[in-house]
Amino acid sequence: MEFHRFLFYASIILSISVYLFPIMANSMGINYGQIADNLPSPEDVVPIVKSIGATKVKLYDADPKVLKAFANTGVEFIVGLGNEYLDKMRDPAKAQAWVKQNVQSHLPATKITCIFVGNEVLTFNDTSLSNSLLPAMQSVHTALVNLGLDKQVTVTTAHSLSILETSYPPSSGAFREDLVDCLSETLSFHQKTGSPFLINAYPFFAYKGNPKQVQLDFVLFQPNQGVIDPATNLHYDNMLYAQIDAVYNALASLGYKKLPVHISETGWPSKGDEDEVGATPDNAKKYNGNLIKLMSKKTGTPMRPNSDLNIYVFALFNENMKPGPTSERNYGLFKPDGTPAYSLGISSTSNVAGSNTTTGGTNGKPLSPIPTPPSTPTSSSTGYLSISPATQGRYEFVGTVLLASLILTKMLLW
Ligand SMILES: *[C@@H]1O[C@H](CO)[C@@H](O)[C@H](O)[C@H]1NC(C)=O
Ligand SMILES: *[C@@H]1O[C@H](CO)[C@@H](O)[C@H](O)[C@H]1NC(C)=O
Repeated sequence: MEFHRFLFYASIILSISVYLFPIMANSMGINYGQIADNLPSPEDVVPIVKSIGATKVKLYDADPKVLKAFANTGVEFIVGLGNEYLDKMRDPAKAQAWVKQNVQSHLPATKITCIFVGNEVLTFNDTSLSNSLLPAMQSVHTALVNLGLDKQVTVTTAHSLSILETSYPPSSGAFREDLVDCLSETLSFHQKTGSPFLINAYPFFAYKGNPKQVQLDFVLFQPNQGVIDPATNLHYDNMLYAQIDAVYNALASLGYKKLPVHISETGWPSKGDEDEVGATPDNAKKYNGNLIKLMSKKTGTPMRPNSDLNIYVFALFNENMKPGPTSERNYGLFKPDGTPAYSLGISSTSNVAGSNTTTGGTNGKPLSPIPTPPSTPTSSSTGYLSISPATQGRYEFVGTVLLASLILTKMLLW
């Protein structure tokens, strides 16, 4: 058979297979922070979220404009109650009013599944704030019970990884001793109400703090020898997994072996100050690109190989009004104009099989049209599509089939 013709038929078969057997992507979460004065309107953000195959979004508040824009899109939401609300939310009546206005009013059109009360509260070392955490979580949960929403919406809080006293090796993972009492109460709350434990984990901080000792490839999910935990003999080839397993071990040591752990933030900045070693577009591309590929593989960590990795990448956009070092304003996968902050290095398959319409469908629903970024004179659709895990899956699949066709053609010609 003539090679060209063979390829042509192979392409047609491929297009059909892609239609019939869309490759399932592990559901990816993304943090949608809005500390900026130049972001696109929420309506224009919907196609951006879809283009990366994200099916879950975490907000830091309960912005009604965002929640309305995402109505009937199937995208799941975690909404936030900022630390400034904790004291007020101790009052059950105020908590109920907040839930009614900010959560109930959007259901069921917008799929709000979780409320996180307070962000990294315990690591502020502010006793009065810490003491309000559990009462606030309880009031919000009681409000959900009263409104008949507690089966569909859970209540949690997000912790910084620095609630751990030790995180390495993973088997030695333990919480800071001064936080154990306070944490134990919230852990018991999670167990009773069935809500997940949220942790923000940034291997970037470990690298930035110690670039001479920490191996960059280990942190960026690049090929490397990895390390073996001497107590468990488990092999780790990336730092994030080691950090997650340290959290599992810390929880287990307090008797909470079964609590689900979600990574509510992780990411890598594409720019930083001079003393922020490692904050470059190339490293950000490796960290986030490799992480997204890993998520599409549907395997857990060495300690929990069968658990889903519930990861929310930080963040959707660069946020120009965030205080702190330059890195803080440069975690985005996208610039405010909707174009990619950098290429994630995984190209779209849309032309490989002669089809014009494959992009990462959500929930295995294939083939929505390629979205056009909002107001983007300089956008490149290749970069734009570059980080859909579903697209990546297809790309590998397409590659495999094309390779098989090549071998077959060779054999036939021979
Ligand atoms: C909080 O306290 C811990 C333990 O004493 C300390 O290591 C940490 O630096 C403190 N954090 C802040 C933000 O002050
Ligand atoms: C590809 O998509 C573009 C934009 O939607 C459309 O204008 C064009 O006709 C399509 N080409 C093919 C071959 O379907």
